[in-house]
Amino acid sequence: MKSESKASAPAKIILFGEHFVVYDKPAVVIAIDRRAYVTVKPRSDSKIVIKSAAINASGAFTSNGEYQPIEGGLENEARFKPIYLIAKNLLASSSEETGLNIEITSSIPIAAGLGSSAAVAAASAAAIGSLLEINLTKNDIFRLALEAEKLVHGNPSGVDPAISTYGGALLYRKSEGIKRLNIESDLPLAVGNTGVKRVTGDMVSHVSRLRNQYPTVVDRIMDAGSAVASLGVEALKSGDLKTLGDLMNMNHALLCALGVSNQAIERLIAAARRSGALGAKLTGAGGGGCIIALSTPNKVHQVVEAIRHAGGEAFATTKAPEGVRIEE
Ligand code: MEV
Repeated sequence: MKSESKASAPAKIILFGEHFVVYDKPAVVIAIDRRAYVTVKPRSDSKIVIKSAAINASGAFTSNGEYQPIEGGLENEARFKPIYLIAKNLLASSSEETGLNIEITSSIPIAAGLGSSAAVAAASAAAIGSLLEINLTKNDIFRLALEAEKLVHGNPSGVDPAISTYGGALLYRKSEGIKRLNIESDLPLAVGNTGVKRVTGDMVSHVSRLRNQYPTVVDRIMDAGSAVASLGVEALKSGDLKTLGDLMNMNHALLCALGVSNQAIERLIAAARRSGALGAKLTGAGGGGCIIALSTPNKVHQVVEAIRHAGGEAFATTKAPEGVRIEE
């Protein structure tokens, strides 16, 4: 066993297909240049102690799985449990009998649609695997992070752990897995955070209820979402930013029809479009969280400023090629 191991994994934005992807429609997703870092060290006792600087919390899981808060209260158990289960899983497949100190630092906004929990899960799996000298493939890391995501929200499509693991740009479909997209052109993107936190599982349940109630309507909305994603792949490959912007606007309208937008999101989207964005949409589960806006390269800072002016936290970003990686 090593004395310390560190790994990181990127945040993501969904360009096309959130929610539809839960129903086996395609999603187009890219990794962005914000990462979660996880450092793991062995402990002399059998506890698994997890600490997150991002939420100012820490706590220990004892050998019988009981959570003991250290900083913050019992509410953090649910956030830390997926990481604990990844650790237990990997310890069970190694011959080491050790406790672990797991420390998370991250520049990814939490509960904002940028895949922070999946990035932490993928980085945790990689760091713990490396500490215990278990040879994990990216596929193994994806599977471990997906199992962890199932705890965070009941019916995940797997798109978040897939992009945090593999990085770059992916076409993802539940039944088919990942297809890597080779995109030459830069994607000048502004991300705007409404600051409204929401629970992905609640938004996914809302769509499920609507689909049960109006299946003929919702299935058509989802079919339109698939068509948008397919055209989106072509536009990405040819670097046609204008078409991408149009398709993002259409994707957003479909998500509005499913009731996952709200006033805070609409305010930022209107500001981005008014300031010259080629297209803008919510990204992730909606109900708050983030929007993304595509612009021409020379206008991205103007769009960022407009989102800030409308009350959002905003930053410019572009795609990041690397998925999960061990940090030496
Ligand atoms: C969350 O980033 C994306 C959703 O489609 C849920 C999922 O795919 O698991 C809303």
